[in-house]
Order: sequence, then C-alpha cells, then structure tokens
Amino acid sequence: MQYLSLNTSYVDFYLKNKYTENNPQLIEAHESIQDKACRGADYLGWIEWVDASDTVLENISYHAIEVIKRNDILLVCGIGGSYLGARAIIEALGNMSKTQVIFLGYHISGKEYERVFELIKDKSVSACIISKSGTTMETAIAYRMVRKFLLSKYPEVELQGRIVTITDEKNGALRTETEKQGYVSYVLPSNIGGRYSVLTPVGLFPIAVAGIDIRALVAGAKKAQHDINSDMSHPAFIYAQRRVDLEKSWFVSELFITCEPSLYFIGEWWKQLMGESHGKEGTGLYPDTLSYTTDLHSLGQYVQEWRRLFFESMLWVDEEATSETIPSMSGLSDGLDVLAWRSLHEMNLIALESTAKAHNDGGCPSIMMHLAKLDAEHLGYLLQTMMYACALSGVMIGVNPFDQPGVEAYKSEMKARLK
Ligand code: PA5
Repeated sequence: MQYLSLNTSYVDFYLKNKYTENNPQLIEAHESIQDKACRGADYLGWIEWVDASDTVLENISYHAIEVIKRNDILLVCGIGGSYLGARAIIEALGNMSKTQVIFLGYHISGKEYERVFELIKDKSVSACIISKSGTTMETAIAYRMVRKFLLSKYPEVELQGRIVTITDEKNGALRTETEKQGYVSYVLPSNIGGRYSVLTPVGLFPIAVAGIDIRALVAGAKKAQHDINSDMSHPAFIYAQRRVDLEKSWFVSELFITCEPSLYFIGEWWKQLMGESHGKEGTGLYPDTLSYTTDLHSLGQYVQEWRRLFFESMLWVDEEATSETIPSMSGLSDGLDVLAWRSLHEMNLIALESTAKAHNDGGCPSIMMHLAKLDAEHLGYLLQTMMYACALSGVMIGVNPFDQPGVEAYKSEMKARLK
C-alpha cells in the first residue's frame, strides 16, 4: 500500500485539464534541486541528511534514554522552524515516555512562563535550547528565563548536565555560550535551514525524549526521498505542480485541512514551511490551516461563499485510529437515528467528503491527501514529501524557498526600540 496518495480530481476539473504530466517547468525545477543549481542551493542539506544521519540517530536515542531516566520534564525552547516540527510530531503521536516535553519560548508571554514554572516547580527538569542563529529574541529570552528557573532548583554545576543546546556547528552566540558553559550540544548542519530541520537533532532530540521512534521517523523520510528521486509521478510532484497551476490561475490562498485535533500542529508546521518559503517578492500562495469539522462552524460559511480565492488541501489518515462507534439511543426526536452504531472514523470521512463536494460545487476546489497510517514512519514520509514539494513549487514560482529576508524587518525594529 502507498504511504501517501493524492486525489486531485476536483482541482483538475477546475484547471480544465491544463495540468500536464512531465511538465517541463517541473522537470527543470526538480533537476535544478538535484543538481544543486537552484536559488538557495546552499540550503539543500536536508535532502541527503536522511541518508547520512545514522550516527546522530544512535547518539540521540541513547541520550534520550538517559534524559528520560532522570527527568519528569524536558523544557524545549525555540521558535519557528526550531520548534514546530517537534511539536507537530509529538502532538500527532502523543508523548509516550514518562518525561513530558513542554515547549516554551515560542512567545514572549510572562504569564505562560509563570504558569509552566509553577506547574513543574517540584518536578525533575532539564532543558533543550534550540536556535540556529543564537540571536533569536524569543529563544534568547527563554534561555535566560529557564536557566534562572533551573538555578532556583539546582546548583550551577549541575546545569551542565541539565541543559542541552542545538545550534550551528561553529557560528552564533548559542555555540559560544555552549562552549563557555560546557553544555552537551548537537549540531544543526549549516546547509539546513530552520523550517527544513525537523529530521535533524532540532526535531529528533525532543521527539526521542517524548518516546517516539526516531529511527522509524527518519526511515519514512528516507523512503519518501528515494521514491521522489526515482519516480516523477510521486505525490510531491503532483502536489507541487497543482499548487503552481492554481496560483497561476486566480487562487491566492491554500487552506490546509486536518480532521483530528492531534494533527493541528502538522498544519501549523506546514503553514510555517510554506509561508516563509514562498511568501516573498510579491508572490506565493497565502497558507492557512483549518480544523474540520470544528471550523465548519466558524469559517465554513466563508469558505463556501466568500470570494473564490482559495483552494483546500485536505489531509486524511486512512487507517482507523479508533473503534469508537456512536451508541444507539431510542426516544430522541432529532431525526438522527441513522447515526446508530456508525464508527466515528466513518462519520469523520463522510463529513470531509461531503465538505469537499459542497466546497467544490461552491467554487473552492480541493486536493485530497491520503496518509495510509498515523505512525512515525508514515509521518516521516509525509514531512519529507511536503518539504520537497515546497522546494519544488518555490523554485517553479521563481523564489528562493530557503531564505526568509522579510522576517528580519520586525527584528531590526525591535532591536532599535531596545537601545
Ligand atoms: O525557518 C526558519 O529558518 C525560521 O523560522 C527559524 O527557524 C526561526 O526564525 C528561528 O531561528 P533560529 O533557529 O535561528 O532561532
């Protein structure tokens, strides 16, 4: 069975069969990525990383076991690409170890620091600080806050064994601080940018501490990359091409739809990946996420009847995650006796398919993405496919999908105000 498959019939109907297999622009984009000749080619390290990460996987797995033995809590501090991948996988599969991973520093909220520190004050705690540049404001604040909190619990000498950092091999303030304090540290390779780093130590260390099988995660990604390298009908190409075709028509926004609360952060990870990779030089689709059926009762109206500027990419997991069924109840007058003994999985799918049809009839086409199963291996497959599709479609619309110059503007403004 395929790990991931796409149904694009609604979109193809809209594009009036303009889509062509073996589109020369798609082939050119793929070749320029493979030959490292595209814009931003210095940041393509994530493609080969999945083949070269064995020793790192081994080290992280052993280290995670030690961290789990000694801690109730791992505080993970990072933002953007230094945070969302790990959160997405842990939320999707659940925190399976006895050590709870708590994310901090993806905000500047004193209230949230207070809440978390109060919650864990009597627990055994370690921390992982993640920043490639070492100068990101939110993470710099988080490091200071968390170090002070740890010092309120442990003698300074113990912090060497309680703080792990993940940063650039040589450059940046966090590398300098790591060496000064003697922290254990992992390297985010310089040729991998934050939002393409989920399968490097940036994502793998917190994910391993949460008790998730990181070898299976990377094996799934590796399989995806091998499938992509050998077959141009892989979903990465189909998805990239449709995104570009839809953008070239009149669509300005893509809504990524999930149907399980636990998959909400997969959508957030996707949004950051697409947003920072494509939203530049006046181009790119505006990426947003919706959770169905929840958001059918808020933005459903808007999707159905607003200006026809967006399409939907719907992620569905084929394998039933639950055998829950709806109990039969006699004497109810809501006219819904047809629900009796139906599984919630079936109901959720009926809701999604009905929504796709209604939205399509209303002028909002959708791509259906079927992930065969929700486990580490299949999620690894999905993430690598999404990253490759993002790179491909970015190259096709002519941007550098690996930089984020626009993010600097607010940072400079903030720094100026702090003088
Ligand atoms: O995708 C990216 O490159 C960004 O979102 C970064 O991950 C984010 O800005 C955090 O940067 P850093 O890891 O340098 O703290």
